[in-house]
Amino acid sequence: MNIAEYKEQIDSALSEYFTPAGLPYDGLLESMRYSLTAGGKRIRPILVLEFCRITGGDVNKAMPVACAIEMLHTYSLIHDDLPCMDDDDLRRGKPTNHVVYGECTAVLAGDALQAEAFGTILRSELPAEARANCAEILADAVGSDGMCAGQFLDMLGEEKSLTEDELNEINGRKTGALLIAACKMGVAAAGGSDEQLEAATLFGACIGSAFQIRDDVLDVISTNEQLGKPVGSDASSHKNTYMALYGQERCMSMIYRLTEHAKEALSGVFTDTAFLRELADSMVTRNS
Ligand code: IPE
Ligand code: IPE
Ligand code: MG
Ligand code: MG
Ligand code: MG
Repeated sequence: MNIAEYKEQIDSALSEYFTPAGLPYDGLLESMRYSLTAGGKRIRPILVLEFCRITGGDVNKAMPVACAIEMLHTYSLIHDDLPCMDDDDLRRGKPTNHVVYGECTAVLAGDALQAEAFGTILRSELPAEARANCAEILADAVGSDGMCAGQFLDMLGEEKSLTEDELNEINGRKTGALLIAACKMGVAAAGGSDEQLEAATLFGACIGSAFQIRDDVLDVISTNEQLGKPVGSDASSHKNTYMALYGQERCMSMIYRLTEHAKEALSGVFTDTAFLRELADSMVTRNS
């Protein structure tokens, strides 16, 4: 399977969720569906499915886990864009959730997507132990030590000048944690070994760092049309970014180095790694 084929399967699976059905709260479902089906690269669900496949698992049974991580990620984007957070009005090429549905609905759509992510994992047809492991990995990645901690520190850091270590701490939690979780959940869905979980963790940590550095670069060098979200958002929110700290050239060499480390992490543990190596390479120069 190539990236486009994975994406198509994931988009199709995601379109089955949250269909308005003449319920009094259809408006909530509609707003969840709006953000979930607005597009997006689907990197995290692709990582779930591919790590499951190379660990020897049943990719079809892992599809709900893949959808779940995209629900969780979509919730994080809806909340990240709120006026009290980054205050952005464009996401995935469309007006942000709160611009279309209002702040109250956007907050609730995010809340519900988070709960439904866990429900979707727990209702899947994977063995009970795999379901529990996936849910625990996700909870650890996005809770008070994970993504929410990163978003909190990101907010505290506005207006301050942070060091590289402080920036790494923020980005490891706000972005890295969920990308690591995607890789680990794929292994866990397949019932993989501790050694495989460790390799997946290292791969995820490296591509996670590279991913946020590239995100910071794109916020400066891209366009709204290409990116599908507003460029210049970091500068206007006085964010600390790698781009502000190091400039484009140094950022790009950090991204290359991290991507090489990511690929090395797989060797000796997994055999069929061509897709993941190619995916990591494609993320280096991504433009959206
Ligand atoms: C954006 O994530 C938020 C970050 C963690 C930098 P993506 O770049 O994966 O966004 P989509 O899912 O493709 O819209
Ligand atoms: C957000 O980082 C990471 C999340 C937890 C959503 P950014 O604020 O840089 O993400 P974008 O640039 O808005 O997608
Ligand atoms: Mg943010
Ligand atoms: Mg943002
Ligand atoms: Mg950004």
